[in-house]
Amino acid sequence: MIKEAKFVISNSNPGNCPKPDRAEIAFIGRSNVGKSSLINAITEQKGLAKTSQKPGKTQLINHFLIDEHWYLVDLPGYGFAKVNKKVKDGWEAMISTYLKKRENLCGVCVLIDSRLPPQQIDLEFILWCATEGVPAVLVFTKADKQSKSKTSQNIQAFIRKLENFVEEAPQYFITSAEKGTGKEELTEFLEELVKE
Ligand code: GTP
Ligand code: MG
Repeated sequence: MIKEAKFVISNSNPGNCPKPDRAEIAFIGRSNVGKSSLINAITEQKGLAKTSQKPGKTQLINHFLIDEHWYLVDLPGYGFAKVNKKVKDGWEAMISTYLKKRENLCGVCVLIDSRLPPQQIDLEFILWCATEGVPAVLVFTKADKQSKSKTSQNIQAFIRKLENFVEEAPQYFITSAEKGTGKEELTEFLEELVKE
């Protein structure tokens, strides 16, 4: 369980992130998938990460210090943010530099909307992680939005597609920031990961 979470710094330049002297985990995924909401859910602080109904809310690399021990990072989304192409290209460059260069990064949680059939952009991003050697786990979001069977149908379809691209599909979690589903399980996993 996370006891304390504090905002540290927001950056557009990956080079200005905090000193890489602690383990770090980043949340990434399409715009509006629920990255910031899930950070608030697992830290139990409603306003810690800024959320919005409008895709493109998170625009910077945001570091949060968890239990004085590790960093949790909220990133801008990829995909369909309501911003112009130049801005979007800038985010993508910022995110890929951050992911490639951040030496204390233990892993990334790739958030995927559990309501949708497999999206090419998510599959491509996971493949990119595998190619770049960035350890990734899948976190399906918004599970409260539909029936359990629909969620599981979408997840199975996603895993099947993914298996065409990567040798072994990563571990996955099913979550709802709204209802708190999967919160404990995911937190426990992250806490183990930063211990290693
Ligand atoms: P960007 O910062 O724009 O990339 O988006 P994000 O991935 O950080 O998404 P954010 O957390 O801002 O949430 C986007 C919208 O989805 C908000 O309106 C949230 O309230 C809603 N949302 C997030 N998680 C859940 C969930 O588990 N269930 C439901 N029903 N809505 C959710
Ligand atoms: Mg966000």
